[in-house]
This record gives sequence, C-alpha cells and structure tokens, in this order.
Amino acid sequence: MVLFWTPWTLAWSALAVLTFVVLLFRVAPYGRHQTGSAGPTLPHRVGWIVMETVSPLLLLLVGGRALGWHWDLLTAPHLLLFGLWVAHYIYRAGIYPFLARWKNRRMPVLIMVSAIVFNLVNGSLNGFELALRPPPDAGSPAFLLGGGLFVLGLAINLQSDVILRRLRRPGDRGYAIPEGGLYRWISCPNYLGEYLEWVGFAIMAATPAALTFALWTAANLVPRALAHHRWYRQQFAMYPRQRKAVIPLIL
Ligand SMILES: NC(=O)c1ccc[n+]([C@@H]2O[C@H](COP(=O)([O-])OP(=O)(O)OC[C@H]3O[C@@H](n4cnc5c(N)ncnc54)[C@H](OP(=O)(O)O)[C@@H]3O)[C@@H](O)[C@H]2O)c1
Repeated sequence: MVLFWTPWTLAWSALAVLTFVVLLFRVAPYGRHQTGSAGPTLPHRVGWIVMETVSPLLLLLVGGRALGWHWDLLTAPHLLLFGLWVAHYIYRAGIYPFLARWKNRRMPVLIMVSAIVFNLVNGSLNGFELALRPPPDAGSPAFLLGGGLFVLGLAINLQSDVILRRLRRPGDRGYAIPEGGLYRWISCPNYLGEYLEWVGFAIMAATPAALTFALWTAANLVPRALAHHRWYRQQFAMYPRQRKAVIPLIL
C-alpha cells in the first residue's frame, strides 16, 4: 500500500462491512426486487444516469483540485488509472442505460440518493488518493496483474450484459434463464466481472481508497447475487441445478 489509511477510509470500509451484513437480509429494492413500498420513484434511466455520473465527475474534480489543476504533474500510469475509472463510468452512465431494456421501469428515489452518496464518497476518495500517490511502476508484476484482472473483468461484464439484453425484445419486461458465457456456471457473471475489475484496479492503484471501493463492490454485489440466485430458483423449476450464484463451483 503506497498511502496510509486515514480515519476516513477506515470508517468507509467499516461501513461497507456493515452494509454487506444488512444487504444479506434486506435486498436493495430495484429491478426484480423492487417492491411497492420503497417510496417515491422516478424513471429508471434518469436515476441511473444521474447517480452513475457522480462518480467520474467527483474523481476528476477532487483529483484535479488536489493537483492544483496541474494534470501535467501526473505520469502516464497515473493517467491510465484515472482513465480506466472514467472509461468504466462512460460506459456505465452514458452507454449502458441507453442499451438496457427498461421500458416503463421506475427507480425508487431512495436508491438513487443512496447510490449518489456511494459514488460521491468513492469518487472523491479515489480522486484524492490517485492524485497524491507516488508514480506507479507500470512495469511491476502487481501493476500488470491488476491491469490483466481489470480487462478480464470488463470483458466478462460486457459479455454478460449482452447476454442479458438479448433475453428481452424491445418493449419486453419479462425475465428468462440466461445461457452461455459464464452463465453456464453462475447466475450473476456481470457482478463477478464488475468485482474483478475493481480488484484489478485496487492492485494497480495500491491505495486504501481503491481497496475500499473493491470492498464496497463486494458488499453490494455478493448479497445481490445470492438474492438473484434464490429468485431464479424460485421462479424457474428448470433452473440449472449445478449453477452457483457468483463464484463458479463455490458460492
Ligand atoms: N460497483 C457496484 O457496487 C455496483 C452496484 C450495483 C450495480 N453495479 C453494476 O451495474 C450493472 C447493473 O446492475 P443490476 O443490479 O441492475 O444488474 P442485474 O440485476 O443483473 O440487471 C442487469 C440488466 O439486465 C436485466 N436482466 C437481468 N436478468 C435478466 C433476466 N434473467 N432476463 C431478462 N433481463 C434480465 C435487468 O432488468 P431489470 O432492471 O428490469 O431487472 C437489467 O436491465 C451490473 O453490471 C453491476 O455490476 C455495480
């Protein structure tokens, strides 16, 4: 780890662990788990774009401010780390919502607000620490391994998104059993891919904030994958029995 843990990153990590436990018992109410009791709602696409745009914006604003706006002080590996984060969110906030089949779907305002807080803190902490960290050694085994994991995770996430999208025709809102890719082994390869991306990023960045973000990603996505898996088994009598939730053969 190239930077010290601060009370902020420690407290934020502790909250991730607490959130993990809460989400094991209470599924975040959006998508298939949405109930009528989650309060006021807004169009899903609008909520998604707003909440996901916050993260790269704060990364660049806080990172830029920490540098006194002297982006020229950064080395190429620094810029790569900023670039990977921003590229991920250009897809997640600017492309994914326009490809997703979300006809008439609405999102609880509560979900959007909690995701904004999540992205605000993670974007800010990561922008600050990436800007201040010493230049990463782009040739080190850790940096290369992390980069490989990030790319692998991105590929799995994108492939899984395509498979899910093809399950619905435009205007359709139903659910079907996904097949192909890593769906042969697990119910939520999109979540596994996302997780590998952020573990890879944390290895490359080697900062407490990046490690904390990987922890938060697991805190959000592992309980949700378990809930999706249970839901599939309840909905589809023919659901493949050997399929696990999120880690092939294990979980
Ligand atoms: N970093 C983090 O902490 C974090 C947190 C949350 C999400 N994410 C990422 O954001 C992305 C979306 O998350 P999500 O929770 O919305 O994923 P999801 O529940 O797997 O849904 C993804 C999309 O596919 C549709 N879909 C899912 N299963 C389907 C099926 N069996 N048949 C037909 N359509 C299906 C969903 O429709 P519906 O919306 O109508 O269900 C949605 O449009 C994921 O890649 C995830 O990794 C990251």
